[in-house]
Amino acid sequence: MRILFCGDVVGSLGRETITTYLPKLKKKYRPQVTIVNGENAAAGRGITEKIYKKLLQDGADVVTLGNHAWDNHQIFEFIEDAKKMVRPANFPKETTPGVGMVFVKVNQQELAVINLQARAFMTAIDDPFTVIDELIEEARERTPHIFVDFHGETTSEKQAMSWYIDGRVSAIVGTHTHVQTNDARILPQGTGYITDVGMTGPYDGILGMDRTAVIEKFRTALPHRFEVVTEGRELLSYCVIDIDDVTGKTKKIEANLINPDRPFKE
Ligand SMILES: [Fe+2]
Repeated sequence: MRILFCGDVVGSLGRETITTYLPKLKKKYRPQVTIVNGENAAAGRGITEKIYKKLLQDGADVVTLGNHAWDNHQIFEFIEDAKKMVRPANFPKETTPGVGMVFVKVNQQELAVINLQARAFMTAIDDPFTVIDELIEEARERTPHIFVDFHGETTSEKQAMSWYIDGRVSAIVGTHTHVQTNDARILPQGTGYITDVGMTGPYDGILGMDRTAVIEKFRTALPHRFEVVTEGRELLSYCVIDIDDVTGKTKKIEANLINPDRPFKE
């Protein structure tokens, strides 16, 4: 089973980049499952129903989210009907709409797709380590193929989670920092891992945001309103993971970028 994962789609330029390159990537790699992180897809914060549907139309099978999941209020109107969308599983159980895990049919098999959120330097939510134990148990009753998008700020928490679940999930990829790390690997018990896949959208912003306000915020230590870059050069950050059909372990993981310095090759 081959999985293609595209990192955090940021704003309209991110969506345009997906529309342009996702079909090309799918043609090149022929993945059985395509997963896209869409938590920044609506002007950098959250997602709308229209955008969710467009991501599916452009070739995503599942859309994952993160800490910005709730920033666009529209989500509360369609999340219960969005069967191909996962929000972080470790938000409070009783009060959070949507689901943290979905199952995707792949020929005769299934892939469990889990979204989880880290806690270091992020909003205090439920313990992701306890929640992942429960989800792995639930998923493994149906399938050995389990994919985790772990949305987190720090490299250490993401590494800790990857070692904690090594051998119990097929792959865990980090999202949220918007910068791709050069550490894609297979852990000793067969779990594919990368600390962060990186973002999809503006190539010349700062994590997708207009540079001026970000620089001024650092320079002056005063508040500045950040706006998403909506035109200019594009970046797409992705990884491709090959999972053994029988064992559910990762056989190969490769991360890559498409940008003006590293143009797409057929
Ligand atoms: Fe995020």
